[in-house]
Amino acid sequence: MKKLLRFFVYVKPCVKQLVWAIIFGALFGACSGFGMPVIFDKVLRQIFMDQSTTPHTVGYIIGVAMLLPTIFALRAIFGYLSGYLMTFSSLEVLRRMKKDIFKRIQSYPVAFFENFNSGDLLTRLTNDTASVQSILLSFSSEIFRQPLQVVGAVSFLLFLCFTKGQVVVLLIFFAAVPFCILPVQMIRKNMKRFAGKAQWGLSNMAQIFSENLDAVHEVRVFNLQDSQIKKFSEVNDSIKWYSLKMAKYELMQQPFMEFLAASMVSVTFVYAYFSGIDFPTFSSIGIALYFTIDPIKRIIRMSTDFIKTMPLVERISEILDYTSTVPEPENPVEIGRIRGELEFRDVNFAYKDRVVMKNANIVIPAGTSCALVGESGAGKSTFAKLAMRLYDPLSGSVKIDGIDLKDIRIKDFISNIGSVPQYPVLFNDTVYNNIAIAKENATKEEVYQAAELAYAHDFIKELDNGYDTLVGERGDRLSGGQKQRIALARVFLKNPPFIVLDEATSALDVNSEAFIQKAVDKLMHERTMLIIAHRFSTIRNVKKIIVFHDGEIVDFGTHDELIVRCQHYKHLYNQQLSKMGTK
Ligand SMILES: Nc1ncnc2c1ncn2[C@@H]1O[C@H](COP(=O)(O)OP(=O)(O)OP(=O)(O)O)[C@@H](O)[C@H]1O
Ligand SMILES: [Mg+2]
Repeated sequence: MKKLLRFFVYVKPCVKQLVWAIIFGALFGACSGFGMPVIFDKVLRQIFMDQSTTPHTVGYIIGVAMLLPTIFALRAIFGYLSGYLMTFSSLEVLRRMKKDIFKRIQSYPVAFFENFNSGDLLTRLTNDTASVQSILLSFSSEIFRQPLQVVGAVSFLLFLCFTKGQVVVLLIFFAAVPFCILPVQMIRKNMKRFAGKAQWGLSNMAQIFSENLDAVHEVRVFNLQDSQIKKFSEVNDSIKWYSLKMAKYELMQQPFMEFLAASMVSVTFVYAYFSGIDFPTFSSIGIALYFTIDPIKRIIRMSTDFIKTMPLVERISEILDYTSTVPEPENPVEIGRIRGELEFRDVNFAYKDRVVMKNANIVIPAGTSCALVGESGAGKSTFAKLAMRLYDPLSGSVKIDGIDLKDIRIKDFISNIGSVPQYPVLFNDTVYNNIAIAKENATKEEVYQAAELAYAHDFIKELDNGYDTLVGERGDRLSGGQKQRIALARVFLKNPPFIVLDEATSALDVNSEAFIQKAVDKLMHERTMLIIAHRFSTIRNVKKIIVFHDGEIVDFGTHDELIVRCQHYKHLYNQQLSKMGTK
């Protein structure tokens, strides 16, 4: 319950509408619970049991009969207004909740995405929020409306009790209350068990589906269709199974309540016969009982919905409560454009338990291009990620221009960095827009010039619609080399003093490779640059080389220095050469 309360911040901005919705809801409740039995009693009494000697005029009878549609009309108007305002607030709450979650996700570091997979996040953002919103709103509206209806109906019964001495009717009603509570307890216990499981199933299914879409190629070339279908079916079946289990308990409550209501009515019949109760009193009691039972039924249904929603509330809370592993500084140091001197001092780092960076110490002077070399898994990418503050070290510090990265606002630091990942991702947009994202308000000339510097201009010109060509989802309509050149154009456009480049390991076409090399050489000029090097040509052109082995920096120097003094480098270098030879 406490967890649900936090979501009421989303309700706050539409509190006015909500209050009106509740007021109309309360009026609706009062019309139903109290108004209807009273009117029925009045109308039936006038029509069937009037003792006066002079007959009523037609107009009077019509007037009395009209009371009935009037109360129904009032009830309908209040119900409609309350329903509309509730829906309005409900949609607003959902909009705010989604926006907040999405906004928070944007601020989370890379480490967050290692804990949650994309399908799961998607389910939380769409499905879970919708369910929480619906329970939140039905809770807000029904919490006043239904109890008021019960209060109205019970007041009517009390009124009868005092004016006509019908105490027994009240007793029948109270005797039934424990019977309402018992099934709720049983249903509650059982549903709780299955609700969470069904929800995990749904999010698992979303994950399998999204993975399947990401791996369209692999599924086809490795003939994985059958195993994918099997994996999907297992989760799909389990969802059905748990939902069915839930339904089993959920569906029990309705007939049970109806049976209870019918029993109450039959007891009232027996009582009515022996006590000589008159027809109008009897029918208005019937209506009052109906309007007592019906809201109780709804309240119970709401409480079961509530149970179903609790696991979702927890799932959303997990996202909202995530504490960033890369927090913003409390007293940030203002930086403008950095010079780019990078320093690692006694840096240790582990992804989970396994230490993958041990006691790294290095100072890279501003404007130095560095190649990071080492066998696979040696820690090159980890070093680059720490330098970009995608992660914080376990101990020690990473500094830029002598300032600890933890003391710089993340946004300020990132605005100084350019990064070309191994496999750049393009947005499903035009080539032009894909380059222009690198700089706010970039002019056309700047974008074209950046593309030229990255040797992308010529191939872009040859595309069907030139710069206006749509690149397809993730840029699938372009080749690997073309995507890399667009990523390089982004860096030229941003023109940052510090660049991290992860070279593509897969072989690019010779043409692309030569162009990319030339573009990278141009970028190196006067910039601090970390290049995770997979190619001999890159190693040859950089000023310095950092040699990694098993999570440690084993040496740092120029190629000529290292080839003489570093056995490990010599080994790696010869390996590279022989690879080149076999090509
Ligand atoms: N997100 C992660 N979670 C857990 N362990 C990781 C993660 N990323 C890397 N590792 C581990 O950290 C170690 C260093 O990985 P890193 O990616 O830095 O190697 P690398 O030198 O870049 O290798 P490669 O040349 O193959 O890219 C490896 O043993 C790897 O298994
Ligand atoms: Mg790597």
